[in-house]
Amino acid sequence: MEQLKTPAEIDLMRQAGRLVAKTLAAVRDASGIGVSLLELDSLAHEVITGAGGRATFLGYRPRFAPTAYPATICTSVNDVIVHGIPNDYRLRDGDLVSIDCAAHVDGYCADSAISYVVGTEHGAARRLIERTVAALEAGIAAAQPGRHLGDIEAAIGRVGRRSGYGIPPDFGGHGVGREMHESPSVANTGFPGTGILLQPGLVLALEPMFMLGGLDQYRVDPDGWALRTIDGGLAAHAEHTVAITEDGPLVLTLAAG
Ligand code: MF3
Ligand code: CO
Repeated sequence: MEQLKTPAEIDLMRQAGRLVAKTLAAVRDASGIGVSLLELDSLAHEVITGAGGRATFLGYRPRFAPTAYPATICTSVNDVIVHGIPNDYRLRDGDLVSIDCAAHVDGYCADSAISYVVGTEHGAARRLIERTVAALEAGIAAAQPGRHLGDIEAAIGRVGRRSGYGIPPDFGGHGVGREMHESPSVANTGFPGTGILLQPGLVLALEPMFMLGGLDQYRVDPDGWALRTIDGGLAAHAEHTVAITEDGPLVLTLAAG
């Protein structure tokens, strides 16, 4: 069952959302050629714990995973779609990096992700990131009370399909609240008018992930976590935590507002 949040709970979730936004901004600012993924992870951990938050991913074990997650953020580089575990890899010029992060503050969670290129940005990578963000924005715009979950899913998927990108099956967004993963699951493709009714108080993490090569396939690394494109092509990911309110969608994972 979906748990609807009160306006007071949504306010609390906004605190977690602001902290996640701040953490992602710090990680992005620190990203440069030669910086390691583990250094970015330590920075994220410092920002979250320094503000009195808890790093939600650390020790988290979702159903699909073989082990507890060992880090604060996911660092997914180039052909890694999502769930890249930070290691000693040092960023190189032109790398497309996706950073995913969640934090708990006062018992509530927020979850968000950004993608960007380190150093020289080529047109195909830029367009892939822009279209992934556009899909997230289309999903947010469809997150209106009285509409259906399938409206969000279709809005996201339409942008990916029109752009000619692949969309990995099985993974997508989710309800979020006291727990990072709550009901419902939000696919990145779907049909308008289908699925649950969107009611004020429903809070969703929307997270399009697109693959440049156009195939709807992925493989999982031997670590059981990282999803990779099957053709070695680039992937991008973008995510916000969004509350459905009487007045429409409210993005909780922004630095201000
Ligand atoms: N945003 C991702 C998701 O909702 C992040 C999960 S990473 C994990 O699946 F380590 F926490 F599992
Ligand atoms: Co998520």
